[in-house]
Amino acid sequence: MIRRISILLVVCIGLYAKTSAQKKTISQRVDSLLRLMTLEEKVGQLNQYSGRQVTGPVSQVKTNLLNDIKNGWVGSMLNVKGVKDTREIQEAALQSRLKIPLLFSLDVIHGYKTVFPIPLAEAASWDLEAMQQTAHIAAKEAAAAGIHWTFAPMVDVARDPRWGRVMEGAGEDTYLGSLIAAARVKGFQGKQLGNTDAIMACAKHFAAYGASMAGRDYNAVDLSDQALWETYLPPFKSAVDAGVATFMNSFNTLNGIPATGNAYLQRDILKGKWNYQGFVVSDWGSIGEMIPWGYAKDDADAAQKAMQAGSDMDMESRAYKGHLVKLVKEGKVAEALVDDAVRRILYKKFEMGLFDNPFKFSDYKREAKVLNDPKHKTVAREAGRKSIVLLKNEAELLPFTKSKSKIALIGPLVKAKRDLNGSWTVNADTNQIVSLYEGMKNKFGKKTELLYAQGAEVEGESRAGFDEAVKIANQSDVVVMALGETWDMSGEAKSKTNIHITGQQEALFKAVKATGKPVVVVLMAGRPLIFNEIVAKADAILYAWWLGDEAGNAIADVLSGDYNPSGKLPITFPRSEGQIPLSYNYYNTGRPIKDPENIIYKSAYIDSPNSPMYAFGYGLSYTSFNYSDITLSADKLNASDSVAVSFKLTNSGKYAGEEVVQLYIKDEVASVVRPMKELKDFKKVFLKAGESKTLNFTVSKEKLSFYNSKLEWVAEPGDFEIMIGTASDNIKFSKKITLQ
Ligand code: NOJ
Repeated sequence: MIRRISILLVVCIGLYAKTSAQKKTISQRVDSLLRLMTLEEKVGQLNQYSGRQVTGPVSQVKTNLLNDIKNGWVGSMLNVKGVKDTREIQEAALQSRLKIPLLFSLDVIHGYKTVFPIPLAEAASWDLEAMQQTAHIAAKEAAAAGIHWTFAPMVDVARDPRWGRVMEGAGEDTYLGSLIAAARVKGFQGKQLGNTDAIMACAKHFAAYGASMAGRDYNAVDLSDQALWETYLPPFKSAVDAGVATFMNSFNTLNGIPATGNAYLQRDILKGKWNYQGFVVSDWGSIGEMIPWGYAKDDADAAQKAMQAGSDMDMESRAYKGHLVKLVKEGKVAEALVDDAVRRILYKKFEMGLFDNPFKFSDYKREAKVLNDPKHKTVAREAGRKSIVLLKNEAELLPFTKSKSKIALIGPLVKAKRDLNGSWTVNADTNQIVSLYEGMKNKFGKKTELLYAQGAEVEGESRAGFDEAVKIANQSDVVVMALGETWDMSGEAKSKTNIHITGQQEALFKAVKATGKPVVVVLMAGRPLIFNEIVAKADAILYAWWLGDEAGNAIADVLSGDYNPSGKLPITFPRSEGQIPLSYNYYNTGRPIKDPENIIYKSAYIDSPNSPMYAFGYGLSYTSFNYSDITLSADKLNASDSVAVSFKLTNSGKYAGEEVVQLYIKDEVASVVRPMKELKDFKKVFLKAGESKTLNFTVSKEKLSFYNSKLEWVAEPGDFEIMIGTASDNIKFSKKITLQ
């Protein structure tokens, strides 16, 4: 035993020595290179240009950009992709005096060639391994097409579905979002940066972009310190701990200072307190945008403020290129700041192995092979079905176990393809997307006749297609309707004041439902929508988000029962826009509603319940789960102990299935008011029909801690409620423990 331990120790020391030697070598190589660089060449490394005009036919714009690259004015390109183009542009960079290779970056958000579900959909799976796997495949494909760096994951906590970018993140919860942030970073970055199946990840948008006022994109943010530290920063810290290579700052202000010019965020917190060693890229044009914000008077002023605040790379403002050399020469910006930024960027270029082989990621053979790997489709289908949330299932209409002779497929999204990929696709191929119609044909086509009517458009007033829809509904045993959003209705710059399902879609549903036929509604969207009529009257509802290439097959897997849905909402669905922002972890207030019949002078709306339509953590299964036999190892704990919580989970229904068991806590009395519930742990468990398992959670002081008014991370003695549930609004057990 002792011998084994000593061998292990020697191996560990050896490995440590090797990694620190490698690190030292990179630092030394960075320093030697830096010593050779002129100030102009240093500033050159800090510029990122978009490549839309660099590829394709020769033009004056292309010639100018290529000249800038050849003259060493560009450190990175975005939006150049594919082996052919990245090789051409990298060759230009290698004509510069110091031959410093470029970093090629791209928004690989939910897939490169193979498109996976949008990030918000994947978050509904609560399956961290699955999310790591899809990020890894996205990285592998992008890396095979010359890309070194993705602008993902977006780790902004988002509680306002008016904000179109909710589609790009992990939803409203900080704990879940932090775990997902780490999983995605690990997925993109693989085992090690420099491997040809890994790309650099980028935690964005630093910080608090998800709290944009009124859900309007690019807007100001005004936050308490508590909210910043407790809600918005932890997913970023989690990305740092997972080794994220880069950060992107954000378009918003935070308490009056644009994030790009915010030294508190970038220097004090990120590079200071968290000792972050990677680099920060600005968001597109965000350095220049400090001028219309009224925070900088011109580009030179903006460049000075951004550099001083810790923005290392300028994405497309050209403010660094235009002014930084002069600002240093005039003594307005210390050259040491520029050196630090350059060092961080060069370090990553070395780490990616680009100095040893600038074309390492631009290999025609690998590109052809990896981009056509059929296994990626299988993973996309699995990720798709895991992301679907069953919101309603009256009279066990689903799954379609008994064979149907005729199914009517109705709605504007039945045959849609492009829409199923949603926003943020960079190299997608519409032909490879499986529509719901195709998925249903694949699954049911042999035995069942499928009738189709579009019925209505996603937007617009026409009801011309209603008669046909009603006609085929009448001819069928059951109706499946596909309604929701087109791909461009959620995403960046897609803020809305009205998130009700659009056009005549709800009217179409009512007309079809009036036939008396059972109706399953499949909703496809990038955000929580409001669809109250459908909630009230549909027989079954599946929330299928935008599921990517394999959407149709994944949905058909769930409708047929080949896959039992297990998704749970990662974001609250409101009843009306007036309730927004709305999340499960609200505060009780001094005037909580005790009796819904008596809301006078209570913290209530007189025209709506406070509760959401569907709560965070909600989602049904075809089976049922029974929670029993809870035990706590103790009801008191000291700061150094923990309490073990165990209970029995039984699959009490007739189908095998997965349950996401959720643990919440509530601090009863504290020096700052605490939320009614906070998610602190969860487990996704598979049980065969009739099977039981004992599940264990551990509650330690760490899980009871929070930021006090001095922003210290503390757990205060007192009582806490420990809750175990199947959704944030469906708690099965609640027990009190006391921290002594
Ligand atoms: C602006 C977006 O905010 C950001 O997320 C994205 O990475 C950049 N544009 C680059 O496309």
